[in-house]
Amino acid sequence: MDGNGRWAQQRQLPRVAGHRAGVEAVRRVLECAGALGIKYLTLYAFSTENWKRPQAEVDALMRLLVEKLTEELPDLVVRGVHLRILGNMEDLPCDVQDALRTALAQTAHNSRLYVNIALNYGGRRELVDACQKLARQVQRGELEPGQIDEEHVERELYTASLPDPDLLIRPGGEYRVSNFLLWQIAYAELYMTPTLWPDFGEQDLIAAVAAFQKRDRRFGGLKGRS
Ligand code: IPE
Ligand code: MG
Repeated sequence: MDGNGRWAQQRQLPRVAGHRAGVEAVRRVLECAGALGIKYLTLYAFSTENWKRPQAEVDALMRLLVEKLTEELPDLVVRGVHLRILGNMEDLPCDVQDALRTALAQTAHNSRLYVNIALNYGGRRELVDACQKLARQVQRGELEPGQIDEEHVERELYTASLPDPDLLIRPGGEYRVSNFLLWQIAYAELYMTPTLWPDFGEQDLIAAVAAFQKRDRRFGGLKGRS
């Protein structure tokens, strides 16, 4: 989700107003994703690099997360949303961790729409964490280095047991991946749009899905064969 700051700047509002408007976009997209039959949706909310922002903005983002998560939780539960966090929760402020744990526990039995929030997430960090976990298994004699294959790596990622994304949508007009799900997007279709995240809505999601449907996915093979 990108472009909150620019959206606010265009309106001469503080950046946090853009983040607030961004939360509304999340609500719209969740509703629309459910209606479109999308089963898995991952939102990139806060990267391991976002800690470099001014402390006041980081604080405002964390406050907004707790506020909105608490406010929206009953609705998420009713709509069958199953929440999961991708990233390292231990580094987050305690009140954020508490709000997240409550939300995770209350949505754990839902299965209509799986919503992953990438929070304090970095794709490289995720891969480093996976390497460390595998190295420890080798050290304990549970695994031979030569046995390590793609499935072993996948099992140690934050996304273990989730399917790889089919479609990656980047709003805000940038043409980069910004350390997002580096392993998992190996064959994802990329969709970049200039729409700033707070302006993103139902029509934008439908346009992205329609573009995806026109793509010819070969996964390295040849057309029409598998
Ligand atoms: C939201 O957009 C991304 C978050 C980290 C919450 P930005 O805050 O990056 O918005 P721009 O890029 O400054 O417009
Ligand atoms: Mg940005």
